[in-house]
Amino acid sequence: MRRLLVAGNWKMHGTRQSVDSLLEGLNQQDWPDNVDLMVAPPALYIQHCLERLAGSPLYVGGQSCAYQAEPGALTGEISAAQLRDVGCEFVLVGHSERRSLFGETDEVVRKKFAAALACGLRPVLCVGETLEQRDAGQTAEVVGTQLKVILDAFGVGGLAQGVVAYEPVWAIGTGLTAEPDQAQDVHAMIRARLAMLDDEQAQLVQIVYGGSVKADNAEALFAMPDIDGGLVGGASLNADEFGAIARAAGRV
Ligand code: PGA
Repeated sequence: MRRLLVAGNWKMHGTRQSVDSLLEGLNQQDWPDNVDLMVAPPALYIQHCLERLAGSPLYVGGQSCAYQAEPGALTGEISAAQLRDVGCEFVLVGHSERRSLFGETDEVVRKKFAAALACGLRPVLCVGETLEQRDAGQTAEVVGTQLKVILDAFGVGGLAQGVVAYEPVWAIGTGLTAEPDQAQDVHAMIRARLAMLDDEQAQLVQIVYGGSVKADNAEALFAMPDIDGGLVGGASLNADEFGAIARAAGRV
């Protein structure tokens, strides 16, 4: 049985004060013990979050990492090794905002995935189509290509050391959630693709859904057979809502 993962992506939100009150709220939640839990704060606050969440079941992750694990002259970057060094367990790679706003190509995403694995971090590989691509019937092709780069390099076993996050770009931050069966279709397609290569490993890969997950739609999404939790943006900035989403995962 796959465990579900509920992960919060805080993006570029927060001040010392708001991060403190969010952490205080998170520390008051009743967390399910059958779900993996993670928050990805802005890098500046990671250390503080690790300290304040020590003793809670929440892992801390990075929102991105450099494409090389080794130290080097990469001004402004943070390496997977450094994230691991301070105590992170996860790192997001290939989030659609990184792809579209910062020009991250599949090749860069592959290098970041490699850097994360090399450092013992669990990479959360984000994939997903734009609305234009969906309307053109290209969802399977777009997601397939994003996956193929990683599968060619690391196989299904390598992917299983991380997590896949299916995040339709049109559902991110828009309030437009994919319907549970619409998301399930893509999750099942992803798993079928993996199963063609290695059925046993394919059954182990956590495939989470992201895109306007909220407390009131989480349970229906998570109840789908191939949806193994969620990557939550906006709703993860509210401790009670994030807690409710985690508890929904604990119930399915
Ligand atoms: P959202 O973001 O929940 O605010 O739509 C999801 C994400 O970008 O991971």
